[in-house]
Amino acid sequence: LRVLFVSSEVEPFVKSGGLADVSSALPRALKKRGVDIRIILPLYGKIDRQRYNIQPCLPSLCVHMGDREEWFALHHTKRDGVDIYFVECEKYFGRAELYHTREGEYQDNPRRFAFFSRAALQVAHDLCFSPGIIHCNDWQTSLIPAFLKLDHDPFFQHTKTLLTIHNIGYQGIFTPDVLTYARINRQHFHAGTFESFGAMNFLKGGIVFADAVTTVSPTYRHEICGPIGSGGLHDVLRAKGDNLVGILNGVDYSAWCPATDPHIPKRYNVRSLHFKRDNKAALQERMGLEKRHDLPLFGFVGRFAHQKGLDLLQGAIEAAVVNMHCQMVVVGSGEQEYERFFGELPQHYPGRIGSYIGYSEELAHLVEAGADFFLMPSRYEPCGLNQMYSLAYGTLPVVRATGGLEDTVENYDELTGKGTGFKFHDMTISALYNTIGWAISTWYDRPQHIEAMRQRAMKRDFSWDKPARQYRELYGKLAGE
Ligand code: ADP
Ligand code: GLC
Repeated sequence: LRVLFVSSEVEPFVKSGGLADVSSALPRALKKRGVDIRIILPLYGKIDRQRYNIQPCLPSLCVHMGDREEWFALHHTKRDGVDIYFVECEKYFGRAELYHTREGEYQDNPRRFAFFSRAALQVAHDLCFSPGIIHCNDWQTSLIPAFLKLDHDPFFQHTKTLLTIHNIGYQGIFTPDVLTYARINRQHFHAGTFESFGAMNFLKGGIVFADAVTTVSPTYRHEICGPIGSGGLHDVLRAKGDNLVGILNGVDYSAWCPATDPHIPKRYNVRSLHFKRDNKAALQERMGLEKRHDLPLFGFVGRFAHQKGLDLLQGAIEAAVVNMHCQMVVVGSGEQEYERFFGELPQHYPGRIGSYIGYSEELAHLVEAGADFFLMPSRYEPCGLNQMYSLAYGTLPVVRATGGLEDTVENYDELTGKGTGFKFHDMTISALYNTIGWAISTWYDRPQHIEAMRQRAMKRDFSWDKPARQYRELYGKLAGE
């Protein structure tokens, strides 16, 4: 089976969030199962060509967009046996960032990704790679299913499309003038396809035209079929019926395993959990915290976005360190209000709160290894990867019970001592504050339970084997194997 996997970000080349992790690990796992899978992404200015040995492979390709020709070049590298192609087009991807700068979204995003989607199909042509499946991801590649259904290109007559929704909060909503550029006839622009409230909605069209849609956890699948979690798309999603499937993401344990992690000072496993202490000390030192093993340390790593419930953390964090004996570390970047707030906080609570505003792969690993608890008060969370990384590091997640957090974290049971984390439901500051308090009181009063939960958490297996099998089955079903 031949599969073209199209994504706007792929680890380790370029990453803004979990989509990049998935776009790297899932194709690799599928390749192991014998799928002839190739990845294609844009060659952004920030991608380090030398480091990843990215070489030109086809110098001049062309797609028709609107009434003009757009020229581009194709580059290539190979990683873990998987062929990875990069679309080089200076005008759209030569700039440094992926989607936006501090000043806001790139205004030409609809054109950039309409072009990229057409370019991906052209590349399949020029490589004579006729795929059984094109696997699209999020709004950036959501025009592809429509192109296939509306263009009737004989080259793709046996190709089926699968669209994976990683986050319904980003639908790619623009003015409809992009239709002309994308070469989609206006007659196909209506409420049954791309149109929502007069605007052009990339993701909606992708859902309608794709042969099947997946999302990244079973609970999120359920949530997006209701009016609260769907961003307005529940009707088109429900209409997919059995062709809407929730497949939980996996963890790439070659990158996220405390026994082999090159980013942490002291490696450990479930039998040498006491070494976790050394990582805690290193994290405390690095973040300017008091070096105290006896204080429970909470960590947060992630995008500073509304989705992640930063407002709850903002509301609870000071009272938590003032009223309860604990420390907090916050790592992330994004919305300026939160960058300012969490950036300044350590000055007011020296030794108790540490923060790092920015992106740091190394620090993300150190927080996973050094913290005792990991905070994810997400408003919604399609899957979430950090809580699964936390489980692997014996760092107990404190999460809101939503989406993939609900599916991957087992709530603590005081009677039996079972569980792998602490959950709350209400989207309120007090619910988060109380749950932090619950974790802290368990830490002080029932250390044997914390120890048992850590061991239990570390033994959980979220490897890509199972999801890769599920995707493989779905591909087979779509391809009529
Ligand atoms: P999302 O994709 O919604 O951002 P996920 O939990 O699926 O959430 O994935 C987030 C990924 O991005 C994780 O691998 C996480 O470690 C990483 N990440 C997010 N922010 C940062 C940061 N500031 N520094 C390092 N890694 C980060
Ligand atoms: C999105 C979601 C996140 C998920 C990731 C990978 O960015 O916000 O929950 O883990 O995609 O699927």
